[in-house]
Amino acid sequence: MCSIIGYLGLSQAAPIIVKGLKRMEYRGYDSVGVATFSNNQILVRKGVGKVIEVNKTVRLDELSGTVGIGHTRWATHGMVTDTNAHPHPSSSGEIAIVHNGIIENHEELKRELQQKGYTFKSQTDSEVIANLLQHHYDKTRDVKQSMIHTVADLKGDYAFVAVFEDGTLSAARLHEPLIIGIGKQGYFISSDVLGFVEHTDEVIYLDNREFVIINTVGIQIFDFDANPVQHQITKVSKEFADVYKGEYAHFTLKEISEQPTTIVNAGNNTKLELDLATDFIRHAKTLYITGSGTSYNAALVAKFLFSKYAKIKIEPIISSEAHFSPDIFEQQSILIALSQSGESADVLEAVNIAKKSGAKIISIVNIMTSSLAHLSSISIGLGCGPEIGVAATKSFTAQLAILYKIVDKICQGALGLDLAKVSEAVKKSLSDDSKIQEVAKKLKDVSDIYVLGRGIHYPIASESSLKLKELTYIHAEGLPGGELKHGPLALMDSNTYVIMLNPNDSTYSDTLTSAREIKARGAKVIGISDKPSDVYDHWIEIPQMSESMYPLVEIIPIQLLAYYAAVEKDTDPDYPRNLAKSVTVK
Ligand code: AGP
Repeated sequence: MCSIIGYLGLSQAAPIIVKGLKRMEYRGYDSVGVATFSNNQILVRKGVGKVIEVNKTVRLDELSGTVGIGHTRWATHGMVTDTNAHPHPSSSGEIAIVHNGIIENHEELKRELQQKGYTFKSQTDSEVIANLLQHHYDKTRDVKQSMIHTVADLKGDYAFVAVFEDGTLSAARLHEPLIIGIGKQGYFISSDVLGFVEHTDEVIYLDNREFVIINTVGIQIFDFDANPVQHQITKVSKEFADVYKGEYAHFTLKEISEQPTTIVNAGNNTKLELDLATDFIRHAKTLYITGSGTSYNAALVAKFLFSKYAKIKIEPIISSEAHFSPDIFEQQSILIALSQSGESADVLEAVNIAKKSGAKIISIVNIMTSSLAHLSSISIGLGCGPEIGVAATKSFTAQLAILYKIVDKICQGALGLDLAKVSEAVKKSLSDDSKIQEVAKKLKDVSDIYVLGRGIHYPIASESSLKLKELTYIHAEGLPGGELKHGPLALMDSNTYVIMLNPNDSTYSDTLTSAREIKARGAKVIGISDKPSDVYDHWIEIPQMSESMYPLVEIIPIQLLAYYAAVEKDTDPDYPRNLAKSVTVK
């Protein structure tokens, strides 16, 4: 959830680190900090807020030294305060660390270290790593030995980078991502290639239970048992360099606008894998599909498509719930795991549970080098490029496009898949968003929004409410239209807004009836439809499509509505409060 970065090279470290942190801020943005090694001492600056804000006040980028570490935080242990911000120095200040993940035995380790005279300032679990390293370093004065003993003592999932009093960097990885960048002017170690992609595209992916030592002589990699490890240098895709928002006010708007292309391109970078996966799915004895948040909403669309068009039953599982029903996966089953990041801890846990039961994993993932891709038998790439906005937009429609492609292959075209037509329809919805901007203004002071859809539109109602919650901080709820009269109707009054997903298909008349019932209770109705009706207070028109294709099109105005309402409310659409793009903790 947090982002960590280290640099050792010929240039001044702090500006490089600050730029890298800015790029990785999607991983967490409660606080930020940098530590550098300069004139035989470790200097630390940090503060609460986003990279740009904190940098303005404490000038992180002006720290001297050619070796350094940096961090953006998504708080798990301890409040969002300057003291809890990383880097954390050891009590003697000879070592400083940045950490991503959770140290499960931090209380016990802290007690032991305090008894030995080490002192703590923060409420974080992370500070224990600094003092534990210091403790082993005090005994050995050797970086490698300190790392070996420290990782042996730590329990939990983590990646950390440490800078030592002799200017050495060292970093270890256990179930949290850590990537080494090999540049001409220096070495990088980071949670994401985005941290250093403008400097080098040559990388080494550290495996779990490995650590690296970087100094002016070069780099050495070891496993946790101290054996040296050799790794291939890989070139990362150039697409990762495309991380600028260009003329767009926000990444979220840029990513929404990219969908006419990303929908058509989805999965094209892994066509063979897509064919292979389709074959596996066709012959699967039992089929499950899992994901979290937006990815789970895509799984719900899949359930509908698979049963209606491919005549295959597929059971959606919320990833974070898999742990509580461990016997769910039958032998010889297939689990399709959906994840933009490929690093969501809940998804990885569901996958590991399924693997233990002998299931095969097919992942549909944007980051092909992620932990999820490594755990899978087959990985299909979303191929939609980096998604920086915390709210998933283009990755959702890319997930859907791939699921549509699979179903269409299985049912031999009965789905009527025409992504070129979808792309045109999305383009049309994006081209004139003036009506959406007008409606967004009305939502500014609203406290509750309900989104209704029936059949295949219910998962989109659920995804719509997630977008509205994340971006606008307005309470929003997605409901299957028919459920209204079973309770939620009691909530309708003149302060409520209800969005009806009501394309002109088999769900149309029933949804229109619900709209009338809502209107009769004084609530305001926003209709998303290709057909006008007097019942709508606001009508947002979408192009006419065949029934199965509407989900890919009707989500677009809602993404825009949520985005523009966020702008109206003056919240930051790219970085909603309290959230992070890749949720690597449970
Ligand atoms: C979506 O807008 C959210 N940011 C969130 O629900 C997200 O979809 C979820 O955390 C899963 O992420 P993943 O696809 O990277 O696994």
